[in-house]
Amino acid sequence: MKNIFVLGGTGFVGAHVCEQLVRAGWQITVPTRRRVNAQAIQHLPGLTVLELDVHDEAALTHAMAGHSAVINLVAILHGDAATFAKIHVHLVEKIARACLANGVAQLVHVSALGADSARMTTAPSYYLRSKSAAEAVLVQVASASDPLRVSLLRPSVIFGANDQFMNVFAKLQAVFPFIPLAGADARFQPVWVCDVAQAIVRVLALPPGGGSVHTWELVGPDVMRLRDLVHIAGVLSGAGAGKGRPIFGLPMWAARIQAFFMELAPGAPLMSRDNLDSMLVDNVATVGMPGLAQLGITAAAIEPVARGYLSR
Ligand SMILES: NC(=O)c1ccc[n+]([C@@H]2O[C@H](COP(=O)([O-])OP(=O)(O)OC[C@H]3O[C@@H](n4cnc5c(N)ncnc54)[C@H](OP(=O)(O)O)[C@@H]3O)[C@@H](O)[C@H]2O)c1
Repeated sequence: MKNIFVLGGTGFVGAHVCEQLVRAGWQITVPTRRRVNAQAIQHLPGLTVLELDVHDEAALTHAMAGHSAVINLVAILHGDAATFAKIHVHLVEKIARACLANGVAQLVHVSALGADSARMTTAPSYYLRSKSAAEAVLVQVASASDPLRVSLLRPSVIFGANDQFMNVFAKLQAVFPFIPLAGADARFQPVWVCDVAQAIVRVLALPPGGGSVHTWELVGPDVMRLRDLVHIAGVLSGAGAGKGRPIFGLPMWAARIQAFFMELAPGAPLMSRDNLDSMLVDNVATVGMPGLAQLGITAAAIEPVARGYLSR
């Protein structure tokens, strides 16, 4: 049986995961809060969209019946402690219980680089503490239950044609003559969305082995400061006559004031104080952790890929 339940399948990473799962022969169910959010994937053969409140545990457990594997890609970037706990931790607890109730063999959970079950109280931001707490839940579930194999995938920041990362920096430089940048010297190891999706499909194909947690850190080949990434986005998109806009790194106090005002703006903020806190730790791979190479994937560098979509 190759039936898979993909929570968060409508998102940026989820759409790529669904495309690759279809190619690998999986039948997919994607729950969503609103059917309209699934427009980009609903045409895929063998994919069923289900309007569902995934936080309703009984409904979730019922919908998951008959699936041999589950992927969780649901996450948020902004919110208060209670919201992060609801989306990143309590939902994961419900997913784990629903997997056990339905005899699901594999659960792939997409976490984030910097999360670790040992850092659920010490990580610098709500985002990373809640991601860490979710990992702790899954480590406990896997060690207590023989049949369920849990895979934790921790990507660095993800780039690709529809990202909210390089595209945003390019758009800002199309409008503003200079960029006052928070977290300018924070280091990242950006990874291509297609490599992340492929990693998920490869993890699903690994030989079964219940009662254990396997963790992969998904990163690209280049470690770069945020200011270098913003510069590349400007240059590749042709801003400032192809030179990119001047970038001014903000000191932390000014960055926090900027983030505070961004949080007040309508819609999802470009940057929140919690995002700033996340950037207090480098977002680069841990030496010795398995990653894309161990899954047989050669990680794509950001510049040639981003040139393809930013130059348009
Ligand atoms: N993008 C990155 O740079 C990056 C970096 C590191 C880690 N990650 C991780 O990779 C995973 C996928 O990220 P992404 O960029 O693809 O995220 P995304 O585009 O924001 O998609 C998030 C998904 O979560 C669902 N969702 C959002 N809020 C929800 C809520 N309140 N209740 C239920 N469902 C909700 C949405 O489903 P519906 O709207 O259809 O309900 C959507 O499909 C996440 O775990 C994220 O933390 C991403």
